[in-house]
Amino acid sequence: MKKEKDAKGHSDLVADWERLFRVFIRPEGRASRATLIKYMDPILYGLNDFLKTHVGITEAISLKELSKGFTDTTINDHPEKKLADVITCLINEIAPYAVNVASPYFVGHMTSAIPFFMVHLKTIIAALNQNVVKLETSKVLSVVEKQVVAKIHRMIYNQKESFYREHVQNTDTTLGVFVEGGTTANLTAMWAARNAKFPPKDGFSGIESEGVAAAYHAYDVDRCVILVSRRGHYSLRKAGGVLGIGNKNVIALDTDKKNRIDLSCLKRTIDTLKREIPKTCILAIVGIAGATETGTVDPLEKLARICAENNTHFHVDAAWGGPTLFSQKYKHLLKGIHLADSVTIDGHKQFYMPMSCGMLYLKDPKTLDVIAYHANYVNRQGSVDLGIKTLSGSREANSLILDCALKIMGKKGYALLIDHGIETAAAFAKEIKRRKLFELVTPPVLNILTYRICPPAIRKKLETADIAEQREINKTLNTVNRRLQRIQREAGVSFVSRTTLLQDNNPDDAIVVLRSVIMNPMTTIAILNDILDEQEKIFTEQLKGLLE
Ligand SMILES: Cc1ncc(COP(=O)(O)O)c(C=O)c1O
Repeated sequence: MKKEKDAKGHSDLVADWERLFRVFIRPEGRASRATLIKYMDPILYGLNDFLKTHVGITEAISLKELSKGFTDTTINDHPEKKLADVITCLINEIAPYAVNVASPYFVGHMTSAIPFFMVHLKTIIAALNQNVVKLETSKVLSVVEKQVVAKIHRMIYNQKESFYREHVQNTDTTLGVFVEGGTTANLTAMWAARNAKFPPKDGFSGIESEGVAAAYHAYDVDRCVILVSRRGHYSLRKAGGVLGIGNKNVIALDTDKKNRIDLSCLKRTIDTLKREIPKTCILAIVGIAGATETGTVDPLEKLARICAENNTHFHVDAAWGGPTLFSQKYKHLLKGIHLADSVTIDGHKQFYMPMSCGMLYLKDPKTLDVIAYHANYVNRQGSVDLGIKTLSGSREANSLILDCALKIMGKKGYALLIDHGIETAAAFAKEIKRRKLFELVTPPVLNILTYRICPPAIRKKLETADIAEQREINKTLNTVNRRLQRIQREAGVSFVSRTTLLQDNNPDDAIVVLRSVIMNPMTTIAILNDILDEQEKIFTEQLKGLLE
């Protein structure tokens, strides 16, 4: 290949076989090695300091400004940069504008600091590049996955030793699957629940093969519904859409004063459906163990009883709260989770794994038989190929990261993190209550809470106001809290998120709240006080006028 100048004026870099082989077999020269060591050494040995130094002055430049530098849509014919230059560019031009989610002042989302060893493990996973869709590209990783799945299954369901002996490496049964995240885990659970409700029978080969219309016809059904509280994650609505049920049939039920599913509303809804629309099939009832917005937990034992009475799949979305089971002090908060037919847990949330890792666990190891797929070249009948019963095809060996993390942390290590989160959130709630300017809107059950700026005079007004006046006041408060959150975020020192909590089905009654998720072990009550101080200052200096 001849050296030539390309559109961007680079002339010394060419794509040729010699260079190509070097990319696969040997690193580039000394300069690139020195650059790699310069940056990888701090990432591998001083991650926290590295992130502090290089990442996260996100608001120094607006996204609009930033995006102006990312408009070139051409790909060079020849190499544009050497590896050393690419890495230098990543560190200097990308990392500073990413978000330092590891900062202890970043308490707004379910993404936080991860232990440094996770980066090492992720690197090894990438280096091995196993594909656990099938045994032929993963071998030992497939059996490791079955083992770690059984470990977490035991944490949830605590079956007898003989049960785990029978299933841990059984190629016919599945105690759980690794997926990309909570969304895919919830979708998989609803997929299995749907297929189980419409199995093959005389003249009908099952919903998976014939589709929803034929299934409804064969079973004399008009519609399927999924019941979950208003606090349910929107991934369930996606599942309703993808599975052909229709996302409006994922019915959001009222919550009680503690943001848990209102059981009387659930019972009423079931009765109404049975009495007035008898051709409705209740596909699943979903309990939440750690609601995204409020961290609250539904009464799982009672939900299990209602599901059993109605012969309905009981799914628990514990994407967030699942690892609470590690804590001897707080595992009672998830009482009844072992009664669920299926449980979602995210690895990239409170297992502190890097993106992206979700999991689905099944009480009955045959549950996923109804979603099995085979192909001639892969996922053969009776093989250990893990792709037989997963939505994903090719996927990385994330289970190895979890297995190693469990060995490095132990149950107690994870329990300490859980306890810290719950107890720091409780202390934060106390502080919010103590400060007159704030109103604690949803007290923490786990480690998530919501609150808002609501000065005492306004609170007093709200107490005596009629509904129309309350709505007006809340509208102004919503503006104040929305702006406050944005100003604080743009200042770039700390971050709490915001959400809009619907009190009922009327959007006029929605209130905007600030949301804190306390999962970073380095987040202390002193830091949370700093965040409240900053919010008070922003309110006093910039927003107070809106309420006068
Ligand atoms: C309760 C709950 N379920 C499901 C999900 C979806 O998980 P993911 O974003 O990993 O797909 C989330 C994410 O926040 C969640 O909080």
